[in-house]
Amino acid sequence: MLSIQELSTANQNLLQAIAHNNITISHLPLLKDAIHANDAQYYVQDNPIIADVEYDALFKALKNLEAENPDLITAESPTQRVAKGLNNSFATVAHLVPMLSLENSYNADDLIDWDRKCKELGETELIEYCIEPKFDGASISLVIENNMLLRAATRGDGVQGDDITNNAKQIRSIPLSANIQQFGIQTLEIRGEVVIHKAIFAKANEALIAENQQPLANPRNAASGALRMKDPAEVAKRGLDVFLYNASTIVMHNNQKIPSEFSTHYQTLKTLADIGFKSSYANAKVVNSIAGVIEYVQEFEAKRDELPYEIDGMVIKVNRLDLQEKIGQTNHHPRWAIAFKFKARQATSKLLNIEYQVGRTGSITPVAKIEPVFVGGVTIQSLSLFNEEVIREKQLMIGDTVLIERAGDVIPYVVKSFPELRNGSETEIIFPKQCPVCNEAIEKPEEEAVWRCVNINCAAQVAEKIIHFASKDAMDIRGLGDANIRKFFELGWLKNIVSIYELPYEQISTMEGFGEKSIEKLKQAIAASKAQPLNRLIFALGIRYVGETTAKTLSRSITHIRDLATKSVEDLLIVEDVGKKVAASIVAFFAHHDNLDILTQLENHGINLANTQKQDAMEGGLSGKTFLFTGTLTQFKRAEAEAMVEANGGSILGGVSAKLNYLVVGEDAGSKLEKAKKLGTINILTEDEFLSLIK
Ligand code: IVH
Repeated sequence: MLSIQELSTANQNLLQAIAHNNITISHLPLLKDAIHANDAQYYVQDNPIIADVEYDALFKALKNLEAENPDLITAESPTQRVAKGLNNSFATVAHLVPMLSLENSYNADDLIDWDRKCKELGETELIEYCIEPKFDGASISLVIENNMLLRAATRGDGVQGDDITNNAKQIRSIPLSANIQQFGIQTLEIRGEVVIHKAIFAKANEALIAENQQPLANPRNAASGALRMKDPAEVAKRGLDVFLYNASTIVMHNNQKIPSEFSTHYQTLKTLADIGFKSSYANAKVVNSIAGVIEYVQEFEAKRDELPYEIDGMVIKVNRLDLQEKIGQTNHHPRWAIAFKFKARQATSKLLNIEYQVGRTGSITPVAKIEPVFVGGVTIQSLSLFNEEVIREKQLMIGDTVLIERAGDVIPYVVKSFPELRNGSETEIIFPKQCPVCNEAIEKPEEEAVWRCVNINCAAQVAEKIIHFASKDAMDIRGLGDANIRKFFELGWLKNIVSIYELPYEQISTMEGFGEKSIEKLKQAIAASKAQPLNRLIFALGIRYVGETTAKTLSRSITHIRDLATKSVEDLLIVEDVGKKVAASIVAFFAHHDNLDILTQLENHGINLANTQKQDAMEGGLSGKTFLFTGTLTQFKRAEAEAMVEANGGSILGGVSAKLNYLVVGEDAGSKLEKAKKLGTINILTEDEFLSLIK
């Protein structure tokens, strides 16, 4: 077996030869050795050192060479066997028939070649193909016997896999029983793919990224990891889903004939769906020419990102099962099926350098600068490493070869590095001890992963803080967007959030793009922001962990922002939804003298620091009254009207009940109005009546 260093050199040399069309018979032994060694890295070590496409290119080169020189094919050639490797922590079970792989294709020519071969082997010019998505997850095999789910197994080495029945039963889309006896079937073995929906995956990753933690690698790894978890209850929480795409074994009662419900692949997908399995039927299509196949795979690639789960290609299968049998299979893959792989979203590159960025909260984010590489339709040369721990965990060094992935909506990231491939020229990454922008010392609480610059006047943070303060969901200062803030900041007109209220309009008016009108608008927007409700100001201050919702609950708990400055962690914990982390962050914010100073300056400029809503509401006439709006409102938006009620001390109910005091009725009101009339205790108001009540 090649050492990992030898393998890396071999891979590079072979891939270069392939790229330059220089592969000759002399490469054959090295190709075989390299594929064997790459297989071992992939299947046994779980640590491939090249991207899938690169591996496929090697495999294809070997197959081409062997096709040209069939007498050189040996039994130990990687083309002649399925790669071995098994996870031992679950009981091992044998598949009823081996779980084969698929051959890959990457373009129309590959598909046209395959079509020709199918026609030759099938001895026919007319073949119907069924096309379906190639789900990017973990493969699974289910055995249904006497209408009951008997067993679920992972692919393993293709011949035997891990028994994961208990975990599979946590996947809600796998039925525990299915009526197969109606077709005279005793035992049915079906294959499919377990996937994690992008939304669930993204949510988990968003939370991690928000905390500067490295995200989960990709939905595929997340799915296969979840399937192998020791605790089935944990599996249940992962929101896994499954798509079945193949009936691999059908054992009939009394040797009856296979029924028509399973006579073609498409029909099989439909039948599986009919008896309660989630199959690939919904997105499957039957066409009667390879041109039709090419059209559908291209059409699907264009809408790949619209699907709620990841697919990495399409699978094309000969539709008629009798023809499948005639066309046959190798011991590695069926000849009657082929995968069409979409453009790769993984690639290898070199880590050139690390830069450190300072965010709004002072977080220091290491950013990897890599040799530009084309992944998932874009060239990537820079990507976040999230925090120092990620660098350590991935054992990164400058000069390392790294695997990059960019999948769908997921931001590009470094999957891993290959320490094995170092040649001694790599250098250690030394995380800075000072803020790269202001040079002040940086801090990291022990339990956190992220280093921060705590200098509130740090230039890097200030511009970001001002942008956040003025943004739509915060103080909503129109006309003071990112670009203007950065410009004014560079010119020294904006130094902190207070300086928004001290802008030198005379000087601004000399700048291009600032006419009288736009200056007037800017002035108005800035003036209007002074009256924003307290919750917006709290959010706008950019206190760590205090998002819009927390800002609202906090503002409801106080009458003036300085009340927050007097609260201890314990006091804050009493507030709804405020946990330890949030409480500690608020206390830390108000412990900073500069922050209190800024509040005083804001107050001097006339910015509202008090919870006027709460005061008004306490004085307001609607205190304790409940409201509901129904129908199409013509004079105001529903959200505005609801805000008016709340500002006056009233509250909004979700439906008509005896607890409701006022129902405000717009145009075309329906059942709510009728119900309110029936109850007879509710005041029914028109929009005008509502407005005069508010006044
Ligand atoms: S058919 C004999 N159909 O792709 C049939 N496989 O790269 C072989 N996969 O091991 C499989 N979606 O885990 C088939 N619609 C689909 C698929 C699919 C995903 C996976 C499967 C297989 C791998 C091969």
